[in-house]
Amino acid sequence: MRVAVVGAGYVGLVSGVCLAAKGHDVTCVDINKSIVDRLNQGVTPIFEKNLPELLQEVIKAEKFRATVSLEHALRDASLVIIAVGTPSENGVIDLTYVCNVARQIGEYIKKNNCFLTVVVKSTVIPGTTDTVVRQELERASSKKLGEFGLGMNPEFLREGEAIEDFMYPDRVVMGYETPETLQLLEELYEPWNVDKVRVNSRTAELIKYANNTLLATQISAVNEIANLAATLGGIDTMHVVSGVHLDKRWNPIIGTNRLNPQILKYLVPGCGFGGSCFPKDVQALRSQGVGLGIPMRMLSAVLEVNEAQPQQVVNILSHHLNDLVDVKVLVLGLAFKPGTDDVRESASLEIVRSLLCAGAQVSVHDPIAAENFAHALGATAVSIEFVDDWRTSLSAVGVVVLATCWPEYAEISKLDITKKVIFDARRMLQPEDVLPARYLTIGRRVDSLGVQENNFSDLPNMV
Ligand code: UGA
Repeated sequence: MRVAVVGAGYVGLVSGVCLAAKGHDVTCVDINKSIVDRLNQGVTPIFEKNLPELLQEVIKAEKFRATVSLEHALRDASLVIIAVGTPSENGVIDLTYVCNVARQIGEYIKKNNCFLTVVVKSTVIPGTTDTVVRQELERASSKKLGEFGLGMNPEFLREGEAIEDFMYPDRVVMGYETPETLQLLEELYEPWNVDKVRVNSRTAELIKYANNTLLATQISAVNEIANLAATLGGIDTMHVVSGVHLDKRWNPIIGTNRLNPQILKYLVPGCGFGGSCFPKDVQALRSQGVGLGIPMRMLSAVLEVNEAQPQQVVNILSHHLNDLVDVKVLVLGLAFKPGTDDVRESASLEIVRSLLCAGAQVSVHDPIAAENFAHALGATAVSIEFVDDWRTSLSAVGVVVLATCWPEYAEISKLDITKKVIFDARRMLQPEDVLPARYLTIGRRVDSLGVQENNFSDLPNMV
């Protein structure tokens, strides 16, 4: 099928390349000429595992190309996918880009008097496709729904695993406003032999938000329990969650084995969720609910817990060290999670700002996200030192904060960490692995009972 994908950002590009890899003929449109030029040379503008190889493959097979011209991309296309950004404006979704694209597609339909099916892939609040997008299309094309197709097909791509998630999805959600649209979506996803959910567009939109907000809720719930456990003292929340993990409703038993589902990875105490999706999506859904007169107390609480969580790192460090003034702290990990150079809403931003406020001397490291981090910090970036070799820098600091669980940081246990304070904000280490150091973390405080902090030696291996 000939497909046009509008927006060569993270969602549009991954979707376009993967659809091309499955045999569709894809043209990606972006207003940024330098991105388009780079794509046509097989160079990806974003960091995503396996994307460069797949991009080069589909370009070679002449299944994929990029252009700045929407008109050029729509020529002969049966389906156009809208995958432009939906930024957050004070917690409210900004649909400007989606609307602009819908209007331009409508104008193209009018000018060429053709039939096109438009599918929204951008994450938009429930009711957007069948009202806002439909109206834009109808106005600009002077046609009614049915004279063009319309649907909504959300993505469930994790950054760093996006190719894997697109190629081997858990399910494909096909929201449609006309039977012909469903037919086309069936053809588009024919190569994928997975569960397919056929619903109207607003249901598809809410499936996407419900998915992310439930995961975010789980993270904030476990973090709140962790904060309580730490205040009580004498408890390690990892023991608590490992006890919870054994409930077969979280972790089913098949024969004599545990299934260890991925959901358990979202049941680990830490310094909070970040990224371009969870915070923005929870805020957008809350705003929509509040606008409709629903208090949305639950989602407000999820955000409140999460916003306060990075500060826990500095609170706990201040409590144990009395004072952070002039204390040398090395923050390891700046991306919002490993496997990406994305620092949007990264907990590390807040951790670094709070450490500076507390008077600490801060150095930072990330294998790939340092540049984006400096940019996101703005003027504050001059107050911190960016280090290339964290292993060497270790000797010069008294405190290390593990803020993103890049696998290489686990090596810290093999280095000289005598008398250093290691704050494991992602629970990536076993306390007994760093015995020469003082181990601090979220959800674990034993000093109030006079017990040594490293005395919890029997932590089970977590997922
Ligand atoms: C998330 C969803 O997992 C995807 O299914 C969805 O498609 C995507 O958003 C999106 O809407 O586009 P992503 O933002 O890439 O994907 O990141 P995740 O791997 O889900 O992690 C999100 C955040 O939660 C990270 O900051 C991570 O560190 C944090 N997290 C995760 C915790 O704080 N605690 C945990 O126990 C687990």
